Amino acid sequence: PAPVGVAPSSSLFKVHAPNVQYTDDHILAEYTYTNTLVTKAEDGSLNVEPKNSVYHFKTDTRIPKLGLMMVGWGGNNGSTVTASILANKNNISWRSKRGVHHPNYFGSVTQASTVKLGVDAEGNDVYIPFSKVLPMVEPNDLVLGGWDISSKNLGEAMERAQVLEYDLQRQVRSEMDKLTPLPSIYYPDFIAANQSDRADNLMAGNDKQAHLEQIRKDIRDFKAANQLDKVIVIWTANTERYAEIIEGVNDTADNILAAVKASHDEVSPSSVFALACIQEHVPFINGSPQNTFVPGVMELAEREQTYIGGDDFKSGQTKFKSAIVDFLVNAGIKPVGITSYNHLGNNDGKNLSSHKQFRSKEISKSTVVDDMVAANKILYAENEHPDHTVVIKYVPCVGDSKRALDEYECDIFMGGRQSISIYNICEDSLLATPLIIDLITVTELMTRVEYKTGDMTKFSPFHSVLSILSYMLKAPLVSPGTPVVNALAKQRTAMENIFRACVGLAPTNDMMLEHKVW
Ligand code: NAI
Repeated sequence: PAPVGVAPSSSLFKVHAPNVQYTDDHILAEYTYTNTLVTKAEDGSLNVEPKNSVYHFKTDTRIPKLGLMMVGWGGNNGSTVTASILANKNNISWRSKRGVHHPNYFGSVTQASTVKLGVDAEGNDVYIPFSKVLPMVEPNDLVLGGWDISSKNLGEAMERAQVLEYDLQRQVRSEMDKLTPLPSIYYPDFIAANQSDRADNLMAGNDKQAHLEQIRKDIRDFKAANQLDKVIVIWTANTERYAEIIEGVNDTADNILAAVKASHDEVSPSSVFALACIQEHVPFINGSPQNTFVPGVMELAEREQTYIGGDDFKSGQTKFKSAIVDFLVNAGIKPVGITSYNHLGNNDGKNLSSHKQFRSKEISKSTVVDDMVAANKILYAENEHPDHTVVIKYVPCVGDSKRALDEYECDIFMGGRQSISIYNICEDSLLATPLIIDLITVTELMTRVEYKTGDMTKFSPFHSVLSILSYMLKAPLVSPGTPVVNALAKQRTAMENIFRACVGLAPTNDMMLEHKVW
């Protein structure tokens, strides 16, 4: 059958198939999702039933003018995101002792990695940029803004961060100096006491409801002033301590809204930001480990059908862990001990040198191998886990150049032991910045994708908890009752195949059957 419609000009390709249609503003795809239902009979045997369900996906191909507002804009990540987008946008090159460097988005899965689209007539793989499977916002077109409890402008913040080479800082400085964070909210009990000397840019008073309303107004004003179609907010501010879950305070949507009105002590700044965004129907992503999404916040997001995602950027040590443990366990090798030391000297490290904030990080780092261990009952007995220890120390002299030392102690064949040691050094913020780009561009895309299954009469957005973002996050937030996937390869495949489904293509597989038969 003839393909229907014309692919948008931003598309690199057009799918010629009866299940895919292009309209002026949308891609419509009918997709058969195949799953395998396994049930256990009384005698313990397994019954297996292939299950097919038809999904209709509708993707709006109009790319909006997008604003990114960062909470913690003046931090190492916030200032590095801003300077690196300016450098990319204006194609600024800079010199170091190693020569001339050109801007790029290395480390961003959407901007710097490719996916296999298919094969050519000779059977060779054809790859395209990840960002070209569906129309996505270009990071260079993002309009940036945000809040910080520190009043330094972005030029000063970039200098304080000590992340980028001086020759680059020098060239973006005048533009960066023009950017100043909005005043933010500071409830000192939630972040380390050692942060207090930074807090000189604060919203007035202690009225949490007034704070929430001011944040909502800031978002609306930013949107209007920059003539934006959409805004996304990301928390890249300090790690907070965990909020206590208290019945009647933060356990339901109505209770937490009432607790904000009463300025209850246990409502954290990050939860106030999340609530403000939910009420504005602006997606909110949490890049830090604390439990911003207490049950009341989750419930409100579901009620308002607006997107939330988190928690904690998966940038270095944990990203590696979620790849290597998956590899080991799937190779039939049994990690029995995972010992992770970190030292870092940036402000994040300073904040984490305080126990309650470290505890948030420890929790988010510690669950990362659970799904891989649970998947292999040959290696691990029920409830058996590798010993897993995480240590973080603040060593000012190394600055943003974080060092992570990991030892993987494994049981191998016939009582043997394998010890794998990894020593990883790199600027933390140069790993986190590309993740922020990915989180924002994928989240924005998800605001333009809707689905419909058999009995639904109209298209609907996805579940408000964007678990598709898991690849970028250490402790992926999922909707209640959903299994958490930490394994890095699975997370990437999920993203890739959901994108493919939206253009009516089958999931990627590496069978290459055509090359394995006569
Ligand atoms: P940073 O300490 O340099 O920046 C945080 C900024 O947030 C500071 O400028 C601070 O003044 C500001 N801030 C604190 N409380 C605030 C509030 N209530 N409202 C507005 N601003 C507030 O830290 P960095 O390195 O930029 O990291 C940011 C967050 O991202 C940290 O929580 C960190 O744990 C998390 N993270 C970072 C990773 C990385 O850099 N590779 C990886 C995973 C998570």
